[in-house]
Order: sequence, then C-alpha cells, then structure tokens
Amino acid sequence: MLIFIGTLLISASLCVNASVEKPQKPKVRGLKEFLSSGHEVITTGLIPADEKTRFFVIGDFGSFTKHFGLQKSAQMMEGLASRKEFSHIITVGDNFYMNGIPDINQLWHPQSIMEVFNGPHASLLPFYATLGNHDCYSDYHNEILFSDYNRQWQMPSDYYELITPLKDNSGKYFVNLMLNSCKLMCFDDKWAGKYCKKMNTGSGSEAVLEHYKWLEEKLQKYSMEDSTAWLAVTLHHPPFLENALKEHFLPLIRKYKVDFIFTGHQHWADYANMDPDYITRFPPEEPQVINNCSKAKEFLFIENRDHTFYKGEKLHQILSGNGGTFLRKICPIKEQDGDLYFRNKGYNGVVAVEATKEKVTISYHRDVNDIVYQVNVINP
Ligand SMILES: [Fe+2]
Repeated sequence: MLIFIGTLLISASLCVNASVEKPQKPKVRGLKEFLSSGHEVITTGLIPADEKTRFFVIGDFGSFTKHFGLQKSAQMMEGLASRKEFSHIITVGDNFYMNGIPDINQLWHPQSIMEVFNGPHASLLPFYATLGNHDCYSDYHNEILFSDYNRQWQMPSDYYELITPLKDNSGKYFVNLMLNSCKLMCFDDKWAGKYCKKMNTGSGSEAVLEHYKWLEEKLQKYSMEDSTAWLAVTLHHPPFLENALKEHFLPLIRKYKVDFIFTGHQHWADYANMDPDYITRFPPEEPQVINNCSKAKEFLFIENRDHTFYKGEKLHQILSGNGGTFLRKICPIKEQDGDLYFRNKGYNGVVAVEATKEKVTISYHRDVNDIVYQVNVINP
C-alpha cells in the first residue's frame, strides 16, 4: 500500500514537468516503426524468444478509485511477461476515468495510471489504445497527443490498423482493426442519440460515416489477403450486447468473417460466440432472464472452462472489461445475442492472447498461474 502511494506521489510530481515538455521515447518503438519492421517483432530481449506471438487485452482500467484492481492487473501482466515473451498491450477503452484527458497540459492522472505498469518487463511493452465512452466525454484527441508524452502510449489516430507479424516464420499476420466505438455507436440516433451527444459525436455525421467506410474497406482488404492469418477488431462497446451496433456494425463484421472481437465496457470478463447463420433476436424480441441470481460472481453456461473451435466455426467475442475499475453486478443474467458461455465479476485481471498461424489461445487470467477460462481456435 505504502509503495503504491509512493509511486503515485512520485509520478504526480514528475508529470508536472512531463506536461510541458515532451519526453524522448527511446525504449518502446512507435506504430510507424512497428508496421515498417516487416517480420521483425518487438522483443523485450529479457527472456528467450519462441515462435508464439503474444499480447495482452486490458479494458476499463484507468482509475484509482479501486486502485488495488489496477495494481493487480498490472502485476499480473508483469508476472506473465517475465515468463513468456509478449509483444504489446491493446486497450479496449475507458482508458482514463472519468473523462479521458480533458487537458493535454494536465497529465498527472494519465501519467500516474501508466506509472503503475512500471515492472521491468511490462514497462517495455507498447500500449495500442482504443477509445471508450469515458475517453470521449472530453476531447479524445488528447489521448492521441498523449502518445508524445508517454513512452508506452501509442495511439496514432482514433482508429487505425495494427498488423502484427506472427513469429512462427509463416509470413502471416494477426490483423487487428483498432476502432473508435464512440463513432461506431452513432450510425444514427435510433438507439444512442443522447449518449452520442455526451460522447461528443454527431449521430450519422460525416465523421461517423467515414469511419464505417474505412472499416468496410479494411475488412474487404484483409479478409481477401493470403497473409492474414487472423482477423480481429477491437472496440469498446460489445456488439453482441449493444443495440446500436447490431444493425450496421455487426453485419459488416460477420460478412467479412472476422475471427475475434476484443471488447470491454461492461466491468466484468466474459466470453460469447455467434454462429455464422445466427439471426439477431434482441430487439425485436425482449431478452428473458436465464439465471435469476442475486449475488453470483460467475456464470458458466457449460461446466467446462476450456473450449476449442475451428476457425470460421464461430465469431468470438472476448470481453475484457475488468482491468482496474469497480466490478459490475452480473445478476440477474439475461439472454443476449450469440451464445454466452462465461461471465465473471469476481476479479480484476487481463486477457492474454497467444497466436501462431495454426492456433490462437485466449486466456482469461485471474492471476499469473490462474486461468479462469480459456478458448482455443484452430486453423487446420
Ligand atoms: Fe465504458
């Protein structure tokens, strides 16, 4: 506890200077270098490399209200990154509560959050960020600018491509489209009109339509390319749960046979998937209560905590929204679109992704050696 408070105070005082002077970023390569590096992969150089590409997924984390949660996730990442080689961290948004970064000259809060990831291994990993609703409550451009002020933070734009070369010498890539959920939620004002205003997004605006156009172009491109081993999207709001994403966003994702959706927003961990021929039910149907629990911390649709699928068999939604803030009540549990397999609000933690051309393993970590749920997808 004392150590943590110490860290906070030190980083707060350091950040006063950081807010007026741009620091050098020598140890973590930026996205430009990352994308132009061909098959070379970011390596910490601290542990032996192997042929598996690994990254973390963290969401809804940038808060000190429940600081032990944030600290626990960061320590977990450090523990995992000290055992196996990870190349980067992606965020599924709500990076800085409650209102993102309102002023680029006042960076003590985001810098202090980032200071928690100060372990010798985790601190070498770049954070590739996406925006959550809280990040859009003020000018989200400040989170892009923050890339110039923090060594790990990499956000070149509000949406961008993150192409990770696989380390297995296959010459293939893990393609991850990093999306702006604040825009994608606002195709029109049918579901989220007031919410869009709060997120400073014009429903149906040119900027929103541009994002949708960009998304379809990229999906078309990468779904056709032989070098794409796996195709993923990362955005804050979960498309299986949000009505505002079901009408325009989800059909695109399904049309181009995306493998994985990495998401957050709900402050828990959950896994759900969707069959290719599934017909979205909610709305117009009203979801029914499937488990009338009042205090349960976990819901397991099937007892087994380890599932294996073939590529293309399902669209996988991985929700990692328990990165560091308070955990949200999961009861009573209602039906949702797709099939819900697992939901847990009992811990703060992260998801680790491990990929080769043949297989992706998604591990929900409650602790370094405690995987509470695991999903494998095989490309035969
Ligand atoms: Fe959120």
